[in-house]
Amino acid sequence: MKTVEEPLEGAAVLAERVARAETVVIFTGAGISTESGIPDFRGPNGLWTKIKPIYYDEFVSSETARREDWKRRFAFRDQVAAVEPNVAHRAIARLIASGKANAVITQNIDGLHGRAGVPADRLIELHGNATYATCLSCDARVELDEAEAIIAATGRTPRCACGGLIKAAVISFGQAMPSREMQRAEEAIQQADLFVAVGSSLTVQPAATLPMIAKYEGAELIIVNAESTPLDGLADRVLRGSIGTVFSRL
Ligand code: APR
Repeated sequence: MKTVEEPLEGAAVLAERVARAETVVIFTGAGISTESGIPDFRGPNGLWTKIKPIYYDEFVSSETARREDWKRRFAFRDQVAAVEPNVAHRAIARLIASGKANAVITQNIDGLHGRAGVPADRLIELHGNATYATCLSCDARVELDEAEAIIAATGRTPRCACGGLIKAAVISFGQAMPSREMQRAEEAIQQADLFVAVGSSLTVQPAATLPMIAKYEGAELIIVNAESTPLDGLADRVLRGSIGTVFSRL
C-alpha cells in the first residue's frame, strides 16, 4: 500500500527507508513549522486564506505596498522569535549531523532549520530568509531592526545609500529565484537515493520540480504531508498525518 494514513505506522516506514538509504535529501515546506506555531500558506488555516501576497512588482512600484510588506516582515520576525524548532526540525538536523542527509532544501523563510542546527553549507533556502534584508540594487545587507528604525524616524520605507530599494531577503511572487540555490539543490539531488518532501503542497514552481527531478534521476520519493499534493501519484510512499509524529522515530 503506497499511502500510509496512520502517522505512527508512517513513522516506522520513514525510519526504515531512511535507515536503508545511502544519502537522503530533505525538502521542506511551511507545513514543517506549523507544529512550532507558524501558520502555513495553503493549509486549512493558511496565511493565503487570510491575506493576499504582495508581488515583487507591487513592492518595487508602490510605497504603500512596501509599507505593508515591512509591517508583515516585522510581525513575522516577532512571531518567529517567540517559537522554537520542533521535533521534525531537530530530527532533520540529526540526519545532517550524522551524514545520512547531505542537504536540506527548504522553501521556508523562518530560519528554523538553521536554529535547529543545520549548518549553512547544508541548508539551501530557495525562497530566501526573512530574518534580514538586502538592497535590490547592490545586495548590501540591512538588519530588520535598522529598517524598522528608519521607517519610525522618517515615515518612509528604507533606501540604500546607492539609491536602491531595501527589501526583506525573501523571494516574493514574481521575483527571480536565486540561481545559485537552485544549482546547489540540483547538485545535492544528484547524490541522493532518497528524497523526502515534507510539509509542502508542492504547488509552487520551480521548487516543486525538484521532487520530480529526484525521481527522474532514480531516487526513491517519499511525501510526508497532511493533505494530498499533485505529486502523490509520482511518489513511492505517501505518509499522511502530523509531521511531528511521522518524524518521531528518527
Ligand atoms: N503535518 C503534516 N502536514 C502539514 C502540517 C502538519 N503538522 N501542517 C501543515 N501541513 C501541510 C498542509 O496540509 C499543506 O499541504 O503542509 C502543506 C503546506 O503547504 P503550503 O502552505 O502551500 O506551504 P508551501 O508548500 O511551503 O508553500 C510554498 O508558496 O507562498 C509561497 O513562498 C511561499 O514557500 C512558500 C511556497
